[in-house]
Amino acid sequence: MNTTAKLRARVSPEAISKVTRIFNGSLDDIFNELLQNARRAGASMVAISALHLEDACVITVSDDGAGIDDPANLVSLGQSDWSDECRAREDPAGMGFFSLAGRDTVVSSASATASFSLAITGPAWTGEADIDVLPWQGPRGTTISFTFDAIRDGHLDRAVKAA
Ligand SMILES: Nc1ncnc2c1ncn2[C@@H]1O[C@H](COP(=O)(O)OP(=O)(O)OP(=O)(O)O)[C@@H](O)[C@H]1O
Ligand SMILES: [Mg+2]
Repeated sequence: MNTTAKLRARVSPEAISKVTRIFNGSLDDIFNELLQNARRAGASMVAISALHLEDACVITVSDDGAGIDDPANLVSLGQSDWSDECRAREDPAGMGFFSLAGRDTVVSSASATASFSLAITGPAWTGEADIDVLPWQGPRGTTISFTFDAIRDGHLDRAVKAA
């Protein structure tokens, strides 16, 4: 073994290929992260709805906050784009959105400078496939839909209230 005088901890570029194992968000984790993001975006309202299918559930969380200027910030692990004030106060880690890693997810957002819609599925979560960013027209804010296991409304209500 070579003797190395100094060593510095760092993140391997391969870490992104493991996000579905590193982050395996429970419904509570997901709601905590999405509601925290809505609050940081200055939302005055968050709407949560669920579509119950036979063996899955599609949950939609919609806020009327500032919207996302650059969707790359969403899918870049460790990258944040909140205001300087928010950064100083809360020191965001740029990881919360990855609580959805591995789930079929659609994000639509309109900010002062950008409007887009995108879908993240399978290998797109682990950096092994491109994500198409499509034009979108909608009111200011962000809407995130994701698939989850089939759940009862009561469980959903409890998770939302806990968050
Ligand atoms: N609802 C939202 N409205 C506006 N921007 C958002 C929203 N959700 C995410 N973003 C943008 O995406 C970035 C990444 O979000 P993510 O939740 O992964 O990390 P974070 O909030 O910066 O930090 P962490 O969640 O780890 O505390 C945010 O910094 C922000 O720029
Ligand atoms: Mg967050």
